[in-house]
Amino acid sequence: MTVHTDVPARERGQTDAPAPERVSHAGEEEKRRKARYPGRQTWAAWPAYDAAGLGFRGYWYPVAWSSNVAAGRPVRITLCGENIVLVRDSKGLHALYDRCPHRGVPLSTGTQEFDGSISCPYHGWTFDTSTGRLGAVITDGPDSPICGKVSVATYPVEELLNLVWVYMGVDGEEPTPLLDQIPEELRGVSFNLGGRIKVRRGDWRLTCENGFDEGHAKFLHRNAMWRRFKSMPVWNVTKLEQRGRWLFRVQTEQHWTAEFPGYGSWPPERESRWRIKPSADGTQSISNTGNPKAPHPHIAAQDYPGFVSVSMPGVLRVVYPDFIHYEFYVPYDADHHRYVGLMVNFDSGFRSLLFKAKYLGFVRWFFHGLFAAQDAWMVDETDAPPERLYRPDVSLTTWRSMCEDAAEERTARLNPTA
Ligand code: FES
Ligand code: FE2
Repeated sequence: MTVHTDVPARERGQTDAPAPERVSHAGEEEKRRKARYPGRQTWAAWPAYDAAGLGFRGYWYPVAWSSNVAAGRPVRITLCGENIVLVRDSKGLHALYDRCPHRGVPLSTGTQEFDGSISCPYHGWTFDTSTGRLGAVITDGPDSPICGKVSVATYPVEELLNLVWVYMGVDGEEPTPLLDQIPEELRGVSFNLGGRIKVRRGDWRLTCENGFDEGHAKFLHRNAMWRRFKSMPVWNVTKLEQRGRWLFRVQTEQHWTAEFPGYGSWPPERESRWRIKPSADGTQSISNTGNPKAPHPHIAAQDYPGFVSVSMPGVLRVVYPDFIHYEFYVPYDADHHRYVGLMVNFDSGFRSLLFKAKYLGFVRWFFHGLFAAQDAWMVDETDAPPERLYRPDVSLTTWRSMCEDAAEERTARLNPTA
């Protein structure tokens, strides 16, 4: 077919004349971008971590207080981007994918009409809570032919530490023992427990990195009520040490004052006047307040090399002389995480009553509330990558590398012949 056109051949590109050289702006764009966003542009150096915005599979995650999941009152949660309904009945606690296969209504909006089942509120499809199998369809009669042909996915679920834990694996994967994931120092001992659960903005990686971040606490939290009367170092020299599944920040130097050329000294007198002065005996492995208080014997027996440690799949442990604080950064969706903060004290008798009073009257508000809110604020404001990391950020990069190792180990375990 001949195409008629008025455009001269030269302009249609049908010429042997060399094409004019194109001016490329790509290099300039790149320069501008690097000036605005210096440093590392992506997390491609940690590919498994980079891809784990919705969490790592193959772990138990705490999702709710046990006491908040009552019989007859289904509870909807989101975990690793999946909506799940928790149901308690005479057969125990169950976790099912929260979507009726008929028309997609959440089962968590349904009711428990018959023990051992949950019914969708729309057309009464009724699922067995243990197996997820469709057992009856109220609006299609007792001989409904669809019964037994449809199921919803179920998840392994257990209860420990007064918490509900859900295992997120891949299809058909046998869960690992939940106890293996509980911090070692909590196994086989009695303790007092206080805590807070809250869904917060920011994906679980940003909040986990904030928790294990070496640099921020001394500056960001310096005037939080939790720290208002205590000293914190200005800066530390820190190395990272992995022991088993825990990665520790180990302080090899702590500097309580410093002179910044051209600026002056830190902390300023107005900020340190009311603080308890740190003891002069060098660095500490427990706490970071310069308080030489002897740790509780159970804590001392653990011989932690540093007061902050982190483990898969995003668990922070902060050790103080008379209690241990844990933060579980539970993947929720791409933009949120579930913060599960626990405080554990190993005293018994009268001293355990004192701890409970201290937790409810002070710690829950000042630490799990106001102090943690400063972290939540920073996580919400963080916009990385791109990122230009500094010396203390070795805590972040080592944690990311540890995640890569764990992901590789899991892949090897699931595919032993690969
Ligand atoms: Fe659930 Fe129809 S949508 S029964
Ligand atoms: Fe913090």
